[in-house]
Amino acid sequence: MALLIKNGTIATEESHYKADILVEDGKISSISKNIDKHSSVEKVINAEGSYIFPGFIDPHVHMSLPTPAGNSSDDFYTGSRAALFGGTTTIIDFVTPNRGQSILEALELRKKEAEDSIIDYSFHVSPVEFNETTAEEIIKCHDLGVKSFKIYMAYKDNIGLNDEELMKVLEVISGKTTGIATVHCELGDEVEKLRETFASEGKTQPLYHALSRPARTESEAVKKLIQMAEKTDCPIYIVHVSTSKSVEHIRAAQNEGLEVYAETCPHYLIFDSTKYGGLFVDSAPYVMSPPLRKKQDLQELWRALPEDVIQAIGTDHCPFMFAQKKTGEKDFRKIPNGCGGVEHRPALLFTYGVKNNKITIEKFIDLLSVMPAKIFGLHPAKGAIAEGSDADIVIWNPDKKSTISASKHHQNSDINIYENIKTVGAPEYVIKNGEIALKGKKIVNKTLKGRYLISV
Ligand code: URP
Ligand code: ZN
Ligand code: ZN
Repeated sequence: MALLIKNGTIATEESHYKADILVEDGKISSISKNIDKHSSVEKVINAEGSYIFPGFIDPHVHMSLPTPAGNSSDDFYTGSRAALFGGTTTIIDFVTPNRGQSILEALELRKKEAEDSIIDYSFHVSPVEFNETTAEEIIKCHDLGVKSFKIYMAYKDNIGLNDEELMKVLEVISGKTTGIATVHCELGDEVEKLRETFASEGKTQPLYHALSRPARTESEAVKKLIQMAEKTDCPIYIVHVSTSKSVEHIRAAQNEGLEVYAETCPHYLIFDSTKYGGLFVDSAPYVMSPPLRKKQDLQELWRALPEDVIQAIGTDHCPFMFAQKKTGEKDFRKIPNGCGGVEHRPALLFTYGVKNNKITIEKFIDLLSVMPAKIFGLHPAKGAIAEGSDADIVIWNPDKKSTISASKHHQNSDINIYENIKTVGAPEYVIKNGEIALKGKKIVNKTLKGRYLISV
C-alpha cells in the first residue's frame, strides 16, 4: 500500500523543513514540497503542525536480562511494545553468553528469543572471556553482520573482562573487523572492594550501592579504556556516561582525533544522587549502575550534548518489579540493577532538552536516531528521512501533554522512576516499515513483527 504524509515538518540532524512524503513498499519513495495523491495511494495523513522524525533507535536495552532476582521484567514483546508507544522503532539489545558457551551459539539463541519483538532489533555481542576461540568467534560474528562488541569492565565475577583480556578483544576488533568496542566503564575490582567493605560494616541500604560506585571508579575506567583504545587503534563507544570527569576524558580524546563515541541516559540527565537519601521503597528503584550523580555532573552532561562530546542517548532499559528490587531490602548488593525507560526517552528528551532550549530539534533527532544508526551500521536504512530509507517514521505532536505513571505505562513493571513527571510531545502516528503501527494511544496493526537487522 502507498501512504502519503502531507504538510509535516521533516526534522533531520541538519535542518527542518516542510515537505510531503510518499511511502511505498515499506520504503520512503519520494520527498517533495507537494506530492499529489495518485491512484495507488490508499491513505493520506495530514501532518500539519507535527514534526516528522525517523523512527527513534534505542541503542541500549536489556530485555529479559537474567539476574539472581529473576529476569528484567520486560521481554522482547512487552519491551518492544512499550518502545513503540514512545516512537521507538528499533532497539539494540545484547548477546551475553555464559562463560564456556560459544558466542555464535549465544547469538543464535538470542535471535530466537528476540523474534517476539514487534519492532526491529539488533545486538551488541559480548565476549565474556578470552579463550582460544574468542578471536575467531568475534570475526565470525562480524562476518554475520555484528558491528558492536560489548565489554564490561565491571561485573568481573561472571561477564566482566580483566585488563589483559580487554586489550586482546580491542586488538581483535581493531585488527580483524570494522567493528566497534562498546564498553561499560567502571573499575570492577575497586567497586567490589567497596561493596564488601560497606556490607561488612552493616551498611546495607540502597545509598551504599551509590557510595560503592563513586564517580572516580567510572572516570578512571573511562581514562584507562581510552588509553587502551589509543594503543590498539580501536574505535570505542562508552555506554551510560554519568560523570563530568568522564566527559572531560572523552572530550580530550576526541580532540586528539581518537574515534571515541559516548552515550548517556535520560536518568543521568534528569535525576541526581539525592534520590538515594530516602526509604528503601523510594530509593531502590534508582539502583542502577553507574548510580545517579551530583547536580554538577548533570550540568556537564547537558553541555556535552550540543558540544557533540556525547553522540547518543540510550535508556539502558532494564526494568524490574518492585518485588524483585525488594530481594535486596537487607543487602543493597542483592537489589537488581536497572530501571525502565524505553517508552519515555523521546518525550523526556523533547521536554527537558528541546522545550528547555538545551538542545535543538536537529540535535534531538541526531542523538535519538541518526547517530545510533550511524555508529552501529544501520544508516541510512534507519535513522534517516530520505528516499530509499526504511519507512520508520514518527509523526510527532510537539504540544501533546502527558504525565508518566506506572499505572498507565506499557512497560512490564509496577514501578517507574519517572512517576508523575509531566512531558510535552508525543507520537501522533508511528509508521514501521511502511505500515501504520500506532495511532494516538493505540496499536492499530496487530500483526507487527520486528526484523533482525544486519549491520554494515
Ligand atoms: O544498572 C544497569 N545498568 N543494569 C543493566 C546492566 C548494565 O550495566 O548496563
Ligand atoms: Zn552497563
Ligand atoms: Zn546496560
